[in-house]
Amino acid sequence: MNLRHVTSINDLDNDEIEQVFALADRYLDKLKDADHPHRIGTSMDIADGSILASLFYEPSTRTRLSFEAAMIRLGGKAIGSADPATSSAAKGESLADTVRVASNYADVLVIRHPRDGAAKLAAEYADVPIINGGDGAHEHPTQTLCDLFTLRRENKQLKNLNVAVSGDLKGSRTIHSFVYALARFGANIMLMPAKGMELPPHVDWRLRNEYRCRAVPKERYDNAAMDALYVTAKQPHQLSLMAPPDFERTVKLKKGVDVVYVTRFQKERWTEQGQDYPKVDANFLKAAKYRKTSVLHPLPRVGELDASLDHDRRAVYFRQAAYGVPIRMALISLLLDLDKRNGWKKFERGFVESTHVLFDQPIDAGIECINSNCIVHDKLEHDYARSRFHLIEAEPPRLRCFYCERDIDSFIIANRKTRHYETNASARNFPNQKRAKDFVLFADAREAEKAGYTPRMSNRKTAAR
Ligand code: NCD
Repeated sequence: MNLRHVTSINDLDNDEIEQVFALADRYLDKLKDADHPHRIGTSMDIADGSILASLFYEPSTRTRLSFEAAMIRLGGKAIGSADPATSSAAKGESLADTVRVASNYADVLVIRHPRDGAAKLAAEYADVPIINGGDGAHEHPTQTLCDLFTLRRENKQLKNLNVAVSGDLKGSRTIHSFVYALARFGANIMLMPAKGMELPPHVDWRLRNEYRCRAVPKERYDNAAMDALYVTAKQPHQLSLMAPPDFERTVKLKKGVDVVYVTRFQKERWTEQGQDYPKVDANFLKAAKYRKTSVLHPLPRVGELDASLDHDRRAVYFRQAAYGVPIRMALISLLLDLDKRNGWKKFERGFVESTHVLFDQPIDAGIECINSNCIVHDKLEHDYARSRFHLIEAEPPRLRCFYCERDIDSFIIANRKTRHYETNASARNFPNQKRAKDFVLFADAREAEKAGYTPRMSNRKTAAR
């Protein structure tokens, strides 16, 4: 049976995301608190007998409590370790073993971990659904579901919405899941990073190359705080390196900024201090373009979002936090097939399989993930993780770590049988999935030669000429 896991926002297609929203709306209508309509106030019993376990290796308030509340509101029970110091991780147990064991105790596991790609590793070892509650700086897909649901409840259609994302765009996992979803639903993305905290190059590459985002030239918009502005092409044929000439119509910049999404400096991920960190306060929002904006923040805030805004009609961040319960109720319900009308457990398409060729080799046997915070570099997981990469068929081709999704844009591919390596790899002459096991990947020619491989004949000739 195909199990569904949610390790990235891209594990759900747009229809499935809409299904989560429709079910969350239904739960909210049915169970809302009479005095606070955005809050779930009563419970139901469709999850009677089901258990959710939370395995949190990093601090959390909202995510863990709202997941546990969601399961209890559905009629189920919640168990878990909120503090890694009191779980077996403190004794040196691997995540792989922990999830294998916890699969015996619960029907669904929510994991938060400081390493990028941890949820994906957990999904390889669990035989119940894994939900990513935030893995390092990689992704936080359920936060994005809350964010999009909030915008929808505020009557903000995602298509052509102008969304500014501000703060630590480099380290905020919430931002990474959010911008992929914005692009997929056709919103325009305005990047307003703190200095040195720009969107990571691999996320930026995916927005431009896989989600049809096009950069609007800087001189065409008037906003000093904005680092880049992306519009999402409506049709694949609009693909071009720059935004189409009629971008002003597409972006409707004059209509102003519909959403400002604020994030805190992720101090736990950086050794340096946040510099000139952007602050959103009444003064910032004075400009006419922010008149009708909605201010979102995944919280916690630590000074970048002024508390004086809390009573401003544009502030929606506490409602956004409240929606964490109905959204997570809907997600659990779909994953566990609790609702007779909707369910994903035996979903025909199963886990959304990648169509990219997957290379799989032992760690230490060739190229390794270049992200030092990737779960594959965690000593505890050494015996459980492998060097696994998807081939991204761009020119030049790229490798994407199966776990943390960081891309490598320069590498060597060698044939185990002929003992030769290619020097000019092009995506066109890569092996298909069946033949992928006959090949090994190296970081560079030196590494390939150290392992006993020689350049392919034709290349040697070219070199001699
Ligand atoms: C976020 C997280 O953990 O990434 N918090 C949350 O789940 N709402 C945001 C943050 O910690 O900055």
